[in-house]
Amino acid sequence: MKELDEKTLNTLVRELADTHPREILRTACQLFDGSLTLGFSGAEDVVLVEMAAEVCPSISIFILDTGRLHHITYQFLEEVRKKYQVTINVLSPDPEELANFIREKGFFSFYTDGHHECCRIRKVEPLRKYLHGFSAWVTGLRRDQNAATRQNIEIFEFDSTFSNGSGKLVKVNPLAFWTHDQVWAYIHERDIPFNELHSQGYLSIGCEPCTRPIKPGEHIRDGRWWWESHEHKECGIHFVQTPLPKNRKIDINKK
Ligand code: ADX
Ligand code: SF4
Repeated sequence: MKELDEKTLNTLVRELADTHPREILRTACQLFDGSLTLGFSGAEDVVLVEMAAEVCPSISIFILDTGRLHHITYQFLEEVRKKYQVTINVLSPDPEELANFIREKGFFSFYTDGHHECCRIRKVEPLRKYLHGFSAWVTGLRRDQNAATRQNIEIFEFDSTFSNGSGKLVKVNPLAFWTHDQVWAYIHERDIPFNELHSQGYLSIGCEPCTRPIKPGEHIRDGRWWWESHEHKECGIHFVQTPLPKNRKIDINKK
């Protein structure tokens, strides 16, 4: 396993900030050879799968299969898997914990309790186990996705949520400085497949019950967990800058 010290990490942040995401990925691949993994959520971060096919074919790709993704998302994952000839590691929730949760709270508790418990079981814990043993993971996070929680992310950073069991886990966000429009220009230029839900008004895509299309003028993330406020629109796999207040009020009808 390769570990970065703080000084090297800061140098990378400084020197590669204006570099194309493909080159950031290439550098990460060289640095963490064989111990780098990419989280592919089946939304527009397919651009990273495409770049990785070119500059980092050895990378392992994972998807957190919450069991609640749209049918169309699974079809899209299959399309990407075949087109780029990649192996996708599927991470599933712990069956016993999930069964207990549903027995106790049912299938839609997130609308009344908030989404964090369901996300913890279906996403956070499977990822926590999986990341053990990796030096670094790559995400499709961008600053423009959420001003409340993502505006300070860097292209290389230490992960403050997960660890790899022996040293500091590095998080690589090659698209940190790209905008939504840049991502889509790249997708169209290169004829990269995309999730059909994007053509139906969905911008940011997560699980089916917690994602809806957005209306003109709404923010990219307004379709995610729409009954909660912006600082809560994180599932827990990415560090949340704003702490969750106690007794938060949730209104499922607020659209
Ligand atoms: S989330 O926290 O709100 O769900 P978002 O959908 O914006 O995250 O995705 C941000 C990045 O997190 C993605 O680009 C991807 O790297 C990773 N990610 C999110 N969901 C998944 C998933 N289901 N499987 C794998 N990676 C994911
Ligand atoms: Fe559960 Fe919704 Fe989180 Fe998916 S996004 S894990 S369905 S709360």
